[in-house]
Amino acid sequence: MKLTIDTEARTVACEDADGAREMPLYTREAFSALSRVWIQVGWALKHIYSFTWMGRPIIQLPEDMVRAQEVIYRVKPDVIVETGVAHGGSLIFYASLFKMMGSAGRVIGVDIEVRPHNRAAIEAHELSPSITLVEGSSVDPGIVERVRGLIKPGEKVLVLLDSNHTKDHVAGELEAYAPMVTPGSYIVATDGLMQYLDDVPRGKPEWKDDNPTAAAREFAARHAEFELQEPPPFVFNEGEVREHITHWPGAWLMRRP
Ligand SMILES: C[S@@+](CC[C@H](N)C(=O)[O-])C[C@H]1O[C@@H](n2cnc3c(N)ncnc32)[C@H](O)[C@@H]1O
Repeated sequence: MKLTIDTEARTVACEDADGAREMPLYTREAFSALSRVWIQVGWALKHIYSFTWMGRPIIQLPEDMVRAQEVIYRVKPDVIVETGVAHGGSLIFYASLFKMMGSAGRVIGVDIEVRPHNRAAIEAHELSPSITLVEGSSVDPGIVERVRGLIKPGEKVLVLLDSNHTKDHVAGELEAYAPMVTPGSYIVATDGLMQYLDDVPRGKPEWKDDNPTAAAREFAARHAEFELQEPPPFVFNEGEVREHITHWPGAWLMRRP
């Protein structure tokens, strides 16, 4: 995509696969194009590696964290399952939301390798009592069974997939974990931004097609009980989708109530 911004003329000229067009700067269309570039430059500069939550590194964009918070506060799950733990910041984030909500909610984190220093820091954290770590591949049937065993009958469950982001792996995770998701709740195939990083530093050409969004789209086509649905914005223009500054485009699969 070629983008030319003229702040004096207040226009943005954009040239991409859809052709060439010019748009006024202060419009949602321009905001969308600028956000795409912002996301790409941020990826090249490792922007998402610059945050912590309550002392632990969290590899998320703050905009996605706020949006996740909106959904979690609305759905009020009893259990959040997340694949992909890394330093544990996202597990601590979800556990902190439970604590603030006065909920006894629990967080289950699955990672193929929980490094000893990360495990020690997570286990020493104030919020560790509400966190369970499960070590192993998220698509290993034994690991899936262990996670299922940690969920009690009747509990409301929300799942976030943030481990290996190949389309095949995410497709496997969706099949394995979606049955645990309760109606009205979500399974989130994060990091679909990969589709926009095929010619960006630290990106790969194959990511154009090999990405979590593609897995989520195909899953939704196979499973009528799930619907791809961006969480509704709070106050925005009626009917508009707030999908601009995010690493999780096309990620949110809601289990129909
Ligand atoms: C992007 S990081 C997770 C970031 C974390 N959710 C956060 O927000 O801070 C991805 C993690 O997935 C883990 N991983 C990779 N392949 C996996 C697999 N097959 N099963 C489970 N975890 C895997 C890696 O070890 C790594 O810790």
